[in-house]
Amino acid sequence: MAIFRPKAEQAQVDFNNLPRHVAIIMDGNGRWARRRGLPRTAGHAAGAETFRTIATYCQKIGLEYLTVYAFSTENWKRPLEEVSAIIGLLKKYLLESIEKMERDKIRLHFFGNLDALPAELRELTQRTDDISTHYEGMQVNVCFNYGGRDEIVRAAQAFAADCAAGKKDPAQLTEEVFSGYLYSAGVPDPDLVIRPSGEIRISNFLLWQSAYAEYYYTDVLWPDFNKEELHKALAAYQSRSRRYGGV
Ligand code: FPP
Repeated sequence: MAIFRPKAEQAQVDFNNLPRHVAIIMDGNGRWARRRGLPRTAGHAAGAETFRTIATYCQKIGLEYLTVYAFSTENWKRPLEEVSAIIGLLKKYLLESIEKMERDKIRLHFFGNLDALPAELRELTQRTDDISTHYEGMQVNVCFNYGGRDEIVRAAQAFAADCAAGKKDPAQLTEEVFSGYLYSAGVPDPDLVIRPSGEIRISNFLLWQSAYAEYYYTDVLWPDFNKEELHKALAAYQSRSRRYGGV
């Protein structure tokens, strides 16, 4: 597939040397809505649109993996109306995706405990998973009911169960073996983690996987994030020197 190349002067981004995997904490929807006198749910609806736009653009420039934080294991503490609105947006997105993800060459996967979702939504996520196996393309991972610590605990439980069943030996546990028990099994670690909205914290996002990720923060709220903002993040990433603990 032809890969779109924006004009060089649009940003100091080397589009031939992009990170393989970008992860985004889609933060600031509530503040975006409040500043406009709108309900928080309107902010999430706008955030879902931004997610669509950015995912499509990432596919266009040839990114391999995009992972977004849509709903954390802690977000259930929010008012029921807000939780329902976010679940409703996920359903809408899944229904739309089933129609066109194969055409757009976007593969969709989920990181998180989906058991807590309504059966209808679980079926939709299963369908998008199944559709995604039929073609190559950018992989979008939506973190839903996801927590980095929860993911690590579940992986440890699964590994312990395999040991108890005699399938694995604790002495042979390596980082690679452990990674295979995470939701992200088979996905390369994120190279760049972007957090909009001015917050400078990890918030339980991809704790294991982002051990060597470069972080990029911006005050722009997620619904206002656009391809120029993405270019700034990519350019910042490319200006860094990644040493992975070396010199
Ligand atoms: C954080 O902003 C955002 C969320 C908890 C929800 C993100 C959800 C979406 C973008 C829409 C649904 C997703 C898909 C995949 C269609 P916040 O509410 O904490 O904002 P605030 O810090 O300004 O209050």
